[in-house]
Order: sequence, then C-alpha cells, then structure tokens
Amino acid sequence: MNTVIVGTQWGDEGKGKIIDILSADSDYIVRYQGGNNAGHTVVVDDKEYIFHLIPSGILHKGKICCLGNGVVVDPAVLIKEIESLSKSGIEIDTRLKISGLVHVILPYHKILDQLRETKRKYRIGTTGRGIGPCYADKINRCGIRMIDLLNESVFKDKLRDNLNEKNEIFKKVFGHHGFKFSRIYDEYLRYGKIFSRYICNISGLLRKAIKNKKDILFEGAQGTFLDIDFGTYPFVTSSSTISAGACIGTGVSVSAIDRVVGVAKAYTTRVGEGPFPTEFEPAFAEAIRAKGSEFGATTGRPRRCGWFDSVMVKESILLNGITELAIMKMDVLSGLKRIKICTAYKYKGKIFKEFPYDLEVITRAKPVYKEINGWSKTLALPRSYNQLPAGARDYISLLEDLLQTKITIISVGSGRLDTIFLD
Ligand code: IMP
Repeated sequence: MNTVIVGTQWGDEGKGKIIDILSADSDYIVRYQGGNNAGHTVVVDDKEYIFHLIPSGILHKGKICCLGNGVVVDPAVLIKEIESLSKSGIEIDTRLKISGLVHVILPYHKILDQLRETKRKYRIGTTGRGIGPCYADKINRCGIRMIDLLNESVFKDKLRDNLNEKNEIFKKVFGHHGFKFSRIYDEYLRYGKIFSRYICNISGLLRKAIKNKKDILFEGAQGTFLDIDFGTYPFVTSSSTISAGACIGTGVSVSAIDRVVGVAKAYTTRVGEGPFPTEFEPAFAEAIRAKGSEFGATTGRPRRCGWFDSVMVKESILLNGITELAIMKMDVLSGLKRIKICTAYKYKGKIFKEFPYDLEVITRAKPVYKEINGWSKTLALPRSYNQLPAGARDYISLLEDLLQTKITIISVGSGRLDTIFLD
C-alpha cells in the first residue's frame, strides 16, 4: 500500500506523529517537497525529536528513508541532523537515500530570502531558510543539484555563472557585498564528499520497491494552504505541498498511490503572515497557544490560532483526494464551554460555501459559525472512541458530517499511545 500524508491547513497539523505511527507499517518513508523550513516533532518514550529534513520514519529500525528530487537541501542542516540522530544511537548510513536531483540551498539563497523580505510591502513571514530563492533558481534553470557537487568541473561552472549574476544583483539592488567563489566552492565540494554515500536514483529505487510490493509512505511537509498554486498566495511556501507533489517530487507515477491521509488539527493555526478568517482574538489565542504549545518547531515563532475551518478543509479534501482524516490535538479543546466550527464565509452580503481563491475575499470575509457544547473532562488516556466525553464525540461526528470524510484517527496527546484508531 502506498500512502501519502498531507497537511490540510497551514502546516503544523501534527503530521509528524501520524507519520511516525504509519511508518511502523511501511518499508520506505519519503519526503517529496520543502526543505528545512519544515519541522516535525515526534515524542517517543518522553524523548522529543525534531526533524527538519530526514523523514521521522528513521526512528523505526530498518526503514529506508528517502529525500526525493522535490526536496531542497541545506547541506549544513542535514549534516547536523545526521550527527544528532547518530548520537542518539539511530543508524543512518545504510538507511538514508538522497536523490541526486535535489536542489541545494547555497548561502546566497538564505541571504536573498531575508533581504527580499525586508524590502517587501507585505511580508510573507518566510522562515528565511533560503527555500524560495532555491526553488526559484530551479525554475530559472540555474539551480545546483546534489549530483553537481560530485563533479568538480560541473559545479565550478555552475557556481561561477550564478555568482557572476547574483553578486551584481546583491551589490546593486541590496547594497550587499556579495559572495566569494572559493569559499562556497570548497565548502560545498566537501559536502558532496560527505553525501556521496547517500546519493542514489530515488525514482528507480521506489519503482523497484513498488514492483516488489513494498509499502511506501510519502511524507508531506507544510500544508495545503501553503501550496505554491492552491495556497493563500503569495503567503505560501514555494513547493507543491498537495498530494500530487508526491509524484512530481519523487518520480513515482500517479497510478501507484493507493491512499491519501489528510491531517487536520481540531482547531486551526498559522505561522507567518497572510489571511486567516477564523483567527481568535489575541487573549483567547494566547490561552490556546499556551495550552497547545503552539510555537513553530523550526523558528520558535508563536503560531496564530483560530477555530476549525471546514470550508478550507473541505477544499483540501478535494485538492488532495483525501480518503481518510486524522484529527489532532483534540485534548487542547477540553474545558471550553462552547466550540465553533466555520461552515461558510460571508463577504459583501454573499455566502461562500466553497473556498474562494480571491485573496480579498479570504482576507476580508467574516466566518459563519456553527456552535456546539464543549466538554469539561480531560481526554487523558481514553483508548477508544466510546471513552471520549459525549461533547468530544459530538464534535467528531459534526466534523465528519461537514467534511463528508471518514475520520480514522483521533489524537489526544503527543505520545504514540495518546491515539484513538477508529477503523
Ligand atoms: P518559507 O517557505 O520559509 O519561505 O515560508 C513561507 C511561509 O510558509 C511562511 O508563512 C512560513 O511561516 C510558512 N511555513 C513554511 N514552512 C512551514 C512549516 O513547516 N509549517 C508551518 N508554516 C510553514
């Protein structure tokens, strides 16, 4: 069975935990887009692991973890992650595979990301990790790929060409002194030597795995509404975060995908700038943020918080072809007297039941809510659906009703055991 896991909101839905659980039954776990702007947190035996690049499936012995061609890699960050996991006793060398076609983040990408942000009238709230400029170079056909780092003359020519153009732009547009060839050249050749043992043909590897009836888990990063095409553009990331990205970002064909699991938080969060129709008032946001530890795993920035938005998640289900849903962090809503779910938007007297792609509508629309009673009991340790308080069960049935999609997993805490499986 080949499964794609996608975030249905603006990222940080809790995909890391679901990936960790489903990894146990998979042979290959594959990242297909994004870079170290992502951060997946997984808690195992009270130890917290934060992943930025390596699939969290690496915590399961014997699993093969891949970075597909759609990922962008900051070599220094990947080396740090490899070293830190190795120190925790996790075997990496035989299990990490990196596509030679991944694009590499260079120092000028990071600086450009940050400089551009300071010049923008409307900031995106980028993580400043160089993700956007690296993808832009890929599309501009001047990017440098992992495989180029293994070939001195190819890398030399590509880097020279890039610096010739970029240093002019850095100086003239941003008043920045630019970058020295030899420093980057030496450093990145060294990275090439380190990574050579991991580089391989990922699409070939996965095709073989599919032929041999192995199970593959495609691990999405960020969320549907950060997708470069279908997200709340321009307040998005620079990759295809939707399930179709799994094929483009690995070379596996569309017909090989059997199942798409959507992950949604029981409420909504967003890091960075951009529209957020159901956002809470500041005081309530602060209370939920504290209760749900809503701080970015990558940048530590406080996440904006709001009610569950079924208009968004319904659109997500259609865009991704989601066959089942996991609802995360239900425990954070315990203790609320009333809970709201957004069922439509209202703008200039018009009701929008389908997600409007017009940025003005999304930015200015008022949410239309359905309200239900909450539950006062904590959700600590229920192991089955029937042990959930009535209010929590009502909330889940209302979500299923509105979204017309089966909920198969409910998460009530960060540990592996704080999970209810409904199927
Ligand atoms: P960038 O991809 O770092 O340029 O960031 C673009 C936007 O996507 C910003 O609003 C970020 O906060 C957001 N973003 C990027 N990666 C993540 C993620 O993993 N979780 C949540 N938001 C993210």
